[in-house]
Amino acid sequence: MSTVETRAGEYKMELTQEQLDILEGKKGETMAKVIKTVVMFGEIFGAKRLVPITHNSGHLVTSFGIGILAPLYRTMDELINAGIKVKGDFTVDPRPLDYKNVKCTMLEKLLFNKILYSKQEQYESQLKKVGLKDEDGFTCTCYLPEVGNTPKEGDILAWAESSAVVYANSVLGARCNRNSGMLDLFSSIVGYVPEFGLLTDEGRKASWKVYVNTTKKPEAQVLGSAIGMKVMEDVPYVYGLDKFLGTELNDENKSYLKDFGAATASNGAVGLYHIDNLTPEAKRCGEELIKPDAKEYIIDDAELERIKNSYPIMWKDPNKKADKCFIGCPHLTLQQLKDWTDKIEKGLKETGRKKVALTTVFTAAPGVVKEFQKSEHYPRLMAAGAKLSSICPLMYTNNPLTKKYNIATNSNKLRTYSAARFYEDDEMLAIIVGKEGH
Ligand code: F3S
Repeated sequence: MSTVETRAGEYKMELTQEQLDILEGKKGETMAKVIKTVVMFGEIFGAKRLVPITHNSGHLVTSFGIGILAPLYRTMDELINAGIKVKGDFTVDPRPLDYKNVKCTMLEKLLFNKILYSKQEQYESQLKKVGLKDEDGFTCTCYLPEVGNTPKEGDILAWAESSAVVYANSVLGARCNRNSGMLDLFSSIVGYVPEFGLLTDEGRKASWKVYVNTTKKPEAQVLGSAIGMKVMEDVPYVYGLDKFLGTELNDENKSYLKDFGAATASNGAVGLYHIDNLTPEAKRCGEELIKPDAKEYIIDDAELERIKNSYPIMWKDPNKKADKCFIGCPHLTLQQLKDWTDKIEKGLKETGRKKVALTTVFTAAPGVVKEFQKSEHYPRLMAAGAKLSSICPLMYTNNPLTKKYNIATNSNKLRTYSAARFYEDDEMLAIIVGKEGH
């Protein structure tokens, strides 16, 4: 961090005496630089003030120790040397590596350890010093009960991981902008976040009315992709999904919305959606949430088919079969792991195979994995030859070496940011159990 001058009066934002004192260096020069960064970030977006973060746990997006991020490690050292930590604690996105469950060749290991993620150990030790919750805190689904970083309705947050932000806003009814990396950490340190966008009532209003007119429950990942690509960073209000999901936010619906939301956030830049009769604000405020000049988007079976067929196939050799598949981006819930186990077992019986037909990696939060390991499903999934990891599949797939594999996934986020090919759940299952034609 560069040296800063901290004079009151040079900011457009209204600041409290406490915030001005920090800016003026009363809590040290490093703290002054931290809050100044948060204030400057807010001023870019026209924030009028900083508001307190009300949830005790932050969540950071930067979980990987990429060698070239030298300024990040320097900044972390400066914070640590000044004795600065976050208020409360934080969880962080998944680790990029897990050699035990996601096997790598010698060459890949060399690339990961010496070049790509050469600073992983050092960075993790820095994370601990500034307030990482615990060893199990590495996941993008920090809000799941097994992880325990679950904000409540109305909470103000400063998270940056897009799939977690959209979930917290839409399903939990918390308030969070799509912040950038480091802003999530700096805001958690000062305990304040600039008030603009999705933190305001106006910013949470929908400028799109989306009508789901499909004949069956749409695949969450494709519906989310369609909406994301259409509305981009706007807020959509979605009609017609309650016909398939009902009006209760039960575990099944939360899993569906987790995957749907991650696709809206990655195929577009959605930070909040409302589902008529289902998500908390839509239930409470209904159509009051829709702006008068909202645009319309109608989604039917043909539109979903069009969207799916528009995905480019980036495999090096598209005529070859898939070599590996990743399921769990965002990380899976406990119930999703159990459901996949049941489906794979049944599918293998049908194809007469004992084991999965290709390297199949399921990814879930460490806390979810531990719970799953206690269940009777765990030995069954292992017996089928699948792997279970808490890795971030994107961090594994997005590099020149692993790009040579034909990687299949049911995640639209992974498809968007890597060369992985997207398949709907049923197609993915057919590939895993080795059904003919797949
Ligand atoms: Fe999570 Fe990594 Fe996917 S952070 S959403 S598993 S890209």
